[in-house]
Amino acid sequence: MKREFLKTGDGSYTIHLPDWNEQYHSKHGAINEALHVFIKMGLDHFLSENPSEEISILEIGFGTGLNAFLTLLQAQERKIKINYTGLEAYPISASEVQKLNYAGLLQGDIALYQAMHDSSWEHSKDITSNFSLTKRKLFFSELEDENAYDLIYFDAFGARVQPELWTEEIFEIMYQALKQKGVLVTYAAKGSVRRAMQTVGFTVERLQGPPGKREMLRATKL
Ligand SMILES: C[S@@+](CC[C@H](N)C(=O)[O-])C[C@H]1O[C@@H](n2cnc3c(N)ncnc32)[C@H](O)[C@@H]1O
Repeated sequence: MKREFLKTGDGSYTIHLPDWNEQYHSKHGAINEALHVFIKMGLDHFLSENPSEEISILEIGFGTGLNAFLTLLQAQERKIKINYTGLEAYPISASEVQKLNYAGLLQGDIALYQAMHDSSWEHSKDITSNFSLTKRKLFFSELEDENAYDLIYFDAFGARVQPELWTEEIFEIMYQALKQKGVLVTYAAKGSVRRAMQTVGFTVERLQGPPGKREMLRATKL
């Protein structure tokens, strides 16, 4: 499938798939979207409800590693340990990694961003002393982990292009993967997605969305 780079509203790049008219991130700002949906509504919220020195995060769709890199910066700032697992069936290429400008815009260490991408698949690697990364080359439907994660960043392509990833079957897998009190956040806000989450047992909140989007969802395993 053809892939292009697109500059988003906050100056950060994303990858655009013209065949699907779909992006890896919001056109209104890749970094701003990630900070709002995953860091503010996900990580900040989880830690304020469950103060912890060490947590486990699962990302559904590792992609460019933007969410992982923002989370690494948070682990440093908050001085907590984060064990991060990223699932991805179709990794981006080394040349694509080099074109993305996240580390520069975030005034982060580009060597750490590169180290995340260089780390081998299926092995845990300490990227810093407080951020370990395990990248798993796996289809989301193949995940079998149970009671393993505090927080899930659910960042699949939209239901318009991959409806099979927004079903009860997939959210049941996510529900099983979370620990009790675990939280799943996603940029999506569709009623059918919310109902699929509720059917498998999640308590779901509709929250203010990132720039350019009215709402998003947060699901908790109570
Ligand atoms: C919206 S993008 C993720 C963006 C990513 N979180 C980031 O910050 O760059 C969705 C990702 O899911 C991956 N993907 C699509 N279908 C998948 C599947 N069935 N199993 C695993 N990965 C899949 C894509 O390759 C893509 O990287």
